[in-house]
Amino acid sequence: MSRIVSMKDLSNDQIMTLIRRALQFKQGELDVDYKGMTACNLFFENSTRTKSSFHMAEMKLGMNILPFEVSTSSVNKGETLYDTIQTLNYIGVDLFVIRHPEVEYYNALDTMNVPLLNGGDGTGQHPSQSLLDLMTIYDEFKRFEGLKVLICGDILHSRVARSNVSALTALGAEVICAAKDKWIDSSLDVPYEPIDDVIEEVDVIMLLRVQLERHDESNSVDIQGDQSYLESFGLTTERYKKMKKNAIIMHPAPFNRGVEIASEVVEMEQSRIFTQMENGVYMRMAMIDEVLKQKERESK
Ligand code: CP
Repeated sequence: MSRIVSMKDLSNDQIMTLIRRALQFKQGELDVDYKGMTACNLFFENSTRTKSSFHMAEMKLGMNILPFEVSTSSVNKGETLYDTIQTLNYIGVDLFVIRHPEVEYYNALDTMNVPLLNGGDGTGQHPSQSLLDLMTIYDEFKRFEGLKVLICGDILHSRVARSNVSALTALGAEVICAAKDKWIDSSLDVPYEPIDDVIEEVDVIMLLRVQLERHDESNSVDIQGDQSYLESFGLTTERYKKMKKNAIIMHPAPFNRGVEIASEVVEMEQSRIFTQMENGVYMRMAMIDEVLKQKERESK
C-alpha cells in the first residue's frame, strides 16, 4: 500500500500487520530511519491530535517536516488540491498527510503515485484514528472476535464511526450503536439500541463528539450544556458503575466534558482515552513505514 485512505481498502491481515508493527514501535523497537526524507502535513480542517501525532511520528522516524499552512498558502488564490500536491511533490516531498472537508478528496490525486495517508475526509473516513482505536482494543483484549463494542453519539456525521464499524465487524467484533433518531446512519449495517439496554454487556464503549460543524437545519440539535443529552445518550457516572469491570471507555476526542461524557469519567480507571492518543503516534509511525516501504519496493 503506498496510500492508506479508507479502512474499506484494508484486509484483516493488513490491519493486524499494522497493529503488530505499531506495538513494536511502542515497545521501543525502532529498526528504521527515514533521515533525509520529507513529510508534509496538509490540514484543510482543524486538528490537534491527528496533525500533532503525525508530526511526532515523522520526527521519531527521522524525517524532515516541510511546514504547510492552508491559511497562508496559494490555496487561497484558487490553487487546486491536485496542483498543490503536485507542486510539493516536485519540490521534493516524499510523504503526504492530508485532512480535507471533501469526502474522498483523494480520488482527485489518483493519477499521482505519491505516498499518501488520509487524516480524515469530511464525513467519509478516518483510517489513522480507526487503526489506533483497533490497536488500543487489541492491546487490551488480545482479540476482536466475540467482543461487544457500543458506539454512541452522532453516528451520522462521524467518519470515526464509519471507519470503525466496517473494520470491527470484519475482524469479528459485534458492533451496536446508540444515537438520537436524527443521528442514526441507516446505511451502516448495525443494530441501534438504547445505551441502558446494553451498558452492562459491552466490552468497549466508544463515545463520539457531537459534530456541530457538520450539522444543518435537518439534523442539528442544541446540546451544548444540555444535561438531558448526557443523561439520555452519554456516559454518566451512574452508567460507568454498571459497566463490566474489564470493559474500557474510548473516545477519539476532542471530547465535550458534560455533553457526551461526564467530566469526571474522562480520566477514570477504565478510560483509555489518553492511551488512544499515545497509541496514535505509534500507529502513525507504522502507517508511514508501510507506505514508504511500498513506494521503495515499487521503485525497484
Ligand atoms: N481524533 C481526532 O481526529 O482529533 P483531531 O481532530 O484533534 O485531529
